Amino acid sequence: MCGIIAYIGDQPALPRLVEGLRRMEYRGYDSAGVALVYEDSLWVRKDVGRVDNLARAVEGGPGALMGIAHTRWATHGGITQPNAHPHLDGEQRIAVVHNGIIENMNALKAQLQADGVVFRSETDTEIFAHLIRKHYTGDPREAVCAAVKHVRGTYGLAVMFADHPNVIVAARNGSPLVIGLGDGETILASDPQAIVAHTRRVIYLRDREVAVISRDGANVQLVDGSSVGHEIELLDNEYDLAEKGGFAHFMLKEIHEQSESIERALRGRIQVDDGNAKLGGLEMSPRDLRAVARVVCIGCGTSYHAGLTAALAIEDLARVPARAEIASEFRHRHPIVPPDAAFFAISQSGETADTLGAVQEVMLKGGDVHGVVNVVGSTIARTCGKGVYVYSGPEIAVASTKAFTSQVTALLVFTLMLARTRNLSFEQGQRVARHLVGVPDKVREYLADPGPISAAAELVANARYVQFLGRGYSYPVALEGALKLKEIAYIPCEGYPAGEMKHGPIAMLEEGTPVIMVAPRGSQRDKAISNLREVQARGAKVILVHSAGDDELRDMAEISIPVPQTAEFVSPLLTVIPLQLLSYEVALRLGRDIDKPRNLAKSVTVE
Ligand code: F6R
Repeated sequence: MCGIIAYIGDQPALPRLVEGLRRMEYRGYDSAGVALVYEDSLWVRKDVGRVDNLARAVEGGPGALMGIAHTRWATHGGITQPNAHPHLDGEQRIAVVHNGIIENMNALKAQLQADGVVFRSETDTEIFAHLIRKHYTGDPREAVCAAVKHVRGTYGLAVMFADHPNVIVAARNGSPLVIGLGDGETILASDPQAIVAHTRRVIYLRDREVAVISRDGANVQLVDGSSVGHEIELLDNEYDLAEKGGFAHFMLKEIHEQSESIERALRGRIQVDDGNAKLGGLEMSPRDLRAVARVVCIGCGTSYHAGLTAALAIEDLARVPARAEIASEFRHRHPIVPPDAAFFAISQSGETADTLGAVQEVMLKGGDVHGVVNVVGSTIARTCGKGVYVYSGPEIAVASTKAFTSQVTALLVFTLMLARTRNLSFEQGQRVARHLVGVPDKVREYLADPGPISAAAELVANARYVQFLGRGYSYPVALEGALKLKEIAYIPCEGYPAGEMKHGPIAMLEEGTPVIMVAPRGSQRDKAISNLREVQARGAKVILVHSAGDDELRDMAEISIPVPQTAEFVSPLLTVIPLQLLSYEVALRLGRDIDKPRNLAKSVTVE
């Protein structure tokens, strides 16, 4: 989603701003722009389309030593040049870039229009430019503080004044900003990825804080002027610059990283000899675990699917009632938050507004909520204050792959801990632990020989509609497979519980419709066979993901993709991978922009 970068230092700002925008491209955007303070005035370029276009347009631009830049993902107003950021005040002396949403936009806009302000865009952000101008009497910080006090909503803000070529003002409320402290330069960004090439020393701004940034550092205060203390933190190694490492796309690279990323999610956490596990950040003793009466996993998209998978395992192995909730639904429906429930907020980015909103709702109602987060130091991780990092490493492709398997793995580790405080014996615990530590090798084995993905992609690429089916643990996998195909190949499809398919979606099947059936060995396998026959009887062509060695099932399908045999509760970690590869191959055939699919954003920081 939107990205902010600002630079002030002893080097030309423009190349650094463009490079920062490139580092944030993976987040998804539809337009980009930059503003510099140069020779006592503002120099602004912005347009729709890729950062590459902007880079060409600003080539040979001024060598100014400070500037702000932005990638926009449209919320208020269409994808147009006037709507791209930066936005300026009427006199073109103040430039603003903004992430977030102004909720009281209409009222503020009407007031400003009544004052005679003429708006040049449809965005909410432009309000900031005019509002700051209205309160500006010569002090940049005071003007920003006075303006934000009128705004209801979320913002990460960088503001530049033509009159003040030595400072940039930043303000945050609900939308992340991090300040990188370099040597003779300071860089502000909404994403540490845009900073790490220059410095690892950072300050994470907190809500309601305003920073005055100069080439020598940052002065941070609360909006009301009171002082705050900030430790300088060091960016984790996980922020090392993301490269494709010989793969054609980040998505393919990330799919292939899954044996290592799952290994990292397990490392130091499984005690095979004790038949148990330990998650340091969880802050739960065996007594606390024993007191958990139910588990609720909350997330969006792929992270929600990880929650669905984990909930099945928690009920299955620990016999504790568990369910998954879609964060955007949960947070707005006045949910019941039982004091004896353990809540998990699952998020790759740790910035998803809906998941963060759900976390805040749980906390407000006195609930116990833990983060299951990939990005270290992200807002959800900080807000929860306790939980589990999944350590999948930076996920750059918009479509989530390795984060899913890492999230599921981390939650399965929790499941083992929870189950051992209940009905899982020492020997059973050891078996579960062995199955978990065996997963990375099985993933490696599968990826070394992924089966007939090309043939399956051939069948799917020309389809008008595709159905993904699975039962039990394979149902969330079917949902995830369908989500991937929609996201990057834009093919109409849906995931369904295989047994429920005959209650409606079976009507969608016609001669040649591809049906992707996920049916590894386990308690649901035989039932899946009946569903397979039902769809074939309607002319569907079945692409079957099954356990290696299951020859009976293999011979029933048009295309069969074997994955190494595993225990049922870890099977999603294997069966999801051919579906990730399949959507990748289909998108490749259709010439889609795989790492940056249309309309999508990596980190969805708006409701
Ligand atoms: C799927 C995808 C999205 C995210 C969702 C939640 O490929 O990328 O569905 O899973 O937006 O994002 P996080 O996990 O960052 O909270």
